[in-house]
Amino acid sequence: MHLKIAILAGDGIGPEVTNEAVNVLTTVANARGHVFEYIPLLIGGVAITAYGTPLPPETLEKTLRCDAALLGAVGDNKFNHLPPSERPEAGLLRIRAALGGFANLRPAVAYKALADNSPLRPEITDGADILFVRELLGGLYFGEPRAWHKSTDRAHNTMVYTRAEVERVARIAFDLASRREKKKITSVDKANVLECSQLWRAVVTDVSRDYPTVTLEHQLVDSMAIHLMTRPRDFDVVLTENLFGDILSDESGVITGSLGMLPSATLGGKVNLYEPVHGSAPDIAGTGKANPIGAILTAAMVLRHSAGMEAEAKLIEDAVDEALNEGNRTTDIARGNVAGQTTLATTQMGELILGKVEARL
Ligand code: NAD
Ligand code: IPM
Ligand code: MN
Repeated sequence: MHLKIAILAGDGIGPEVTNEAVNVLTTVANARGHVFEYIPLLIGGVAITAYGTPLPPETLEKTLRCDAALLGAVGDNKFNHLPPSERPEAGLLRIRAALGGFANLRPAVAYKALADNSPLRPEITDGADILFVRELLGGLYFGEPRAWHKSTDRAHNTMVYTRAEVERVARIAFDLASRREKKKITSVDKANVLECSQLWRAVVTDVSRDYPTVTLEHQLVDSMAIHLMTRPRDFDVVLTENLFGDILSDESGVITGSLGMLPSATLGGKVNLYEPVHGSAPDIAGTGKANPIGAILTAAMVLRHSAGMEAEAKLIEDAVDEALNEGNRTTDIARGNVAGQTTLATTQMGELILGKVEARL
């Protein structure tokens, strides 16, 4: 197999964690006699610095000709003064729209080895295994009109959803839920206040009729934020709109142990886009403290969803498990005064997991 992968490392810790993910992909490809061709491209703050735009045309054109895109993170405080449309983040939103993937899968699993790292008690998180399906191309992020009218001190954004947009992401969530053990969907909205959410709830309910094996429940987003922390094991697939999904998936980092552990895959478009959930973490960029596990698990999702290599994806996940079980930690998942833990830098953790992947191939 020859797989062309756009590498959009981006800003801050983006290149640091992406490097570790690419090393893992290369090792798997070599062992299986495949060729993974990487196309490094600029996006975000580094692209603004080089070309004056967060998404240079070359980046978009070349990514559209790839089989998959692996993104690190975008965002740099030095561009905080710019309006949303010119910031590094705008490059990410534009490429998401152009690639067309609308179903953003964000798994959040409670690792046994990290039970003591979560601020939640182990008996709360034990066994939690949630798959967020976040709608990625609609809602407030893309709705028009939007503006900040400085002269009148007024600003507005628009939340829009159509039946078709809700239906297509709901179908993906129901398909995924029907293949999981619990077969349950929790659809999250704010239907007590927002018309968009009333449409969302109606369409999800309609779609559920085609999936008799899947149980559907609805939750309001505000109380869902606390249910996730008090009874995370009760959830299986959590289906929600763009902004709610952004917020709740970060929150689920608490269940897993750190935001740096969470991977994601965006499906349904021309080219699947893979990115860890976390951002460019300017507070730790360049210090070697970045946890590469979110990016490495994202590489596993590339193999699962773009290469048909389920066994190899699983093997990477097992290697991560083993690394954690042996007490290996990056700073974000380290805990003082716990015996048997070793704190590693980004590259050390990457190399350690790589060795465990190699041993399994
Ligand atoms: P962030 O996710 O970058 O960081 C939040 C906190 O988590 C920080 O304390 C950071 O050090 C920590 N953290 C994040 N990833 C980590 C990792 N892999 N290992 C260890 N610790 C990690 O969120 P933020 O600080 O709100 O945003 C910083 C910038 O990133 C902003 O410009 C934002 O727009 C951008 N951002 C980009 C993406 C993306 O590119 N997909 C996602 C989220 C935020
Ligand atoms: C994420 C990020 C992005 C989002 C930003 C950087 C545009 O927070 O991927 O979760 O809000 O979707
Ligand atoms: Mn986010």
